[in-house]
Amino acid sequence: MPELKNDRFLRALERQPVDRTPIWIMRQAGRYLPEYRAVREKAGDFMTLCQTPELACEVTLQPLERFDLDAAILFSDILTIPHAMGLGLHFVKGEGPRFSHPVRDRRAIDALPRPDAETDLGYVMDAVRVIRRELDGRVPLIGFSGSPWTLATYMVEGGSSRDFRRIKGLMYEDPETLHRLLARVADSVTDYLNAQIAAGAQAVQIFDTWGGVLSPATYREFSLAYMQRIVEGLTRESDGRRVPVILFTKNGGQWLEAIADAGPDALGIDWTTDLDDARGRVGERVALQGNLDPNVLYAGPERIRAEVERVLAAFGHGEGHVFNLGHGIHPQIDPDHVRVLVDAVHELSAPYHG
Ligand code: CP3
Repeated sequence: MPELKNDRFLRALERQPVDRTPIWIMRQAGRYLPEYRAVREKAGDFMTLCQTPELACEVTLQPLERFDLDAAILFSDILTIPHAMGLGLHFVKGEGPRFSHPVRDRRAIDALPRPDAETDLGYVMDAVRVIRRELDGRVPLIGFSGSPWTLATYMVEGGSSRDFRRIKGLMYEDPETLHRLLARVADSVTDYLNAQIAAGAQAVQIFDTWGGVLSPATYREFSLAYMQRIVEGLTRESDGRRVPVILFTKNGGQWLEAIADAGPDALGIDWTTDLDDARGRVGERVALQGNLDPNVLYAGPERIRAEVERVLAAFGHGEGHVFNLGHGIHPQIDPDHVRVLVDAVHELSAPYHG
C-alpha cells in the first residue's frame, strides 16, 4: 500500500500534532454536486450506484476533485445490512428509504440471517478496494455503518419515522425481543466494519442518527450498549497503524461522558453542543469531530468564514479536533459555499496549532 500523503485526519483522531485542522463533510458525495446527479442518472437508481464499485468509487472521489478535503468517505448507505438480511430496501421518491419486509415480531427477528460481509456485502468491500487503489494514498478512506439502534428503527418502522411509535412500542412492551434484534444487528455491524477495515478502510464511523430520540436510560440500554459491543469487537490496527473509531450520536450532547466510556477514539458532535463544553468534559480521553450547523452554508462567504472561526475558537488551541458539519450537508447547498468552508478551515486553523 502506498504511503499516506496527507494523514492530518488520522493524526487529529489520535490527538497528535497537525499543521492545520483537517476537514471532511458528512454526506460530502451527494446530490448537492451536479456531477453526482449526472452519475446517479446514468446508474438509474441509488442502489445500483452503491452496488457498482466503479461508480461508487467515482462518486466517492468527486468531492475530493473539487475541494481540499482531508478524508474520503466510502460511498454506500447504512441500510445495506438490513437489505442483505432480506428486508427488501427500496427508495420512494420524496419519502426516502422503505423496506418491503419490516420485522416486528419475535418470529421475524429470530429468522433474520447474519449476512456474510465478504459475499452478501461483497459489493461494499469491492468498492473499498477500488477506492483505496484510486486514492493512491492521497487521503485516508473512512468506512462506516449505522448503529444497531438506528438500523433497527428503519427495520421495525419499515422506513423513516417521525414518532418511532412501532419501535418504541416494542421497546416498552417487549424489550427482550428488541434486545434480540439489536444483538443480531450488532454482530452483523461488527462483521461488516471489520471486513471494511480488512478491505482497506483506515478509520470507521458509526452513525447513530436516531439515538437522540431516546431517554437517558433507554439510550444507554438500547443504543450505547450495542455500540460498545461493536467497538469492543473491532480490529483497531491495520497495516501497522491505528484504525480510529468515531461514534456519532446526533443529539447526544448530554451523554458525551458515557459515549466516551464505550471506548471510541473520537466523538462526533452536533451543533447543539459547544466544542469548548465538549472538550472540557471528554477532551482528555477522545478527539472531537464537528460541529458547524449545516444551515450556515446557506449564508454567504463572510458569514461562513465567521462561523468557521467561531467553531475553531470554541475547540481552541491544541490537538484532537476534526472539523465537520454537525450533520450531513443538505442537497440544496451551493458547491461554491463548500469551497469557502473547506478553505476557511485550513486557512483560519493554522494559529490553533504549533
Ligand atoms: O457521507 C457520505 O458522503 C457517504 C455516503 C452516505 C450516504 N448515506 C449516501 C446516501 C452515508 C454515510 C449515508 C448514511 C445514512 N443513510 C444515514 C445516516 C446519516 C446521518 O447523517 O446520520 C441514514 C439515516 C441513511 C438512510 C438513508 N439513505 C436516507 C434517509 C436517505 C435519503 C433519502 C432521500 O431521498 O433523501 C438515503 C439515501 C442516500 N444515501 C443518498 C445518499 C447520497 C441520496 C440518494 C439519492 O437520491 O441519490
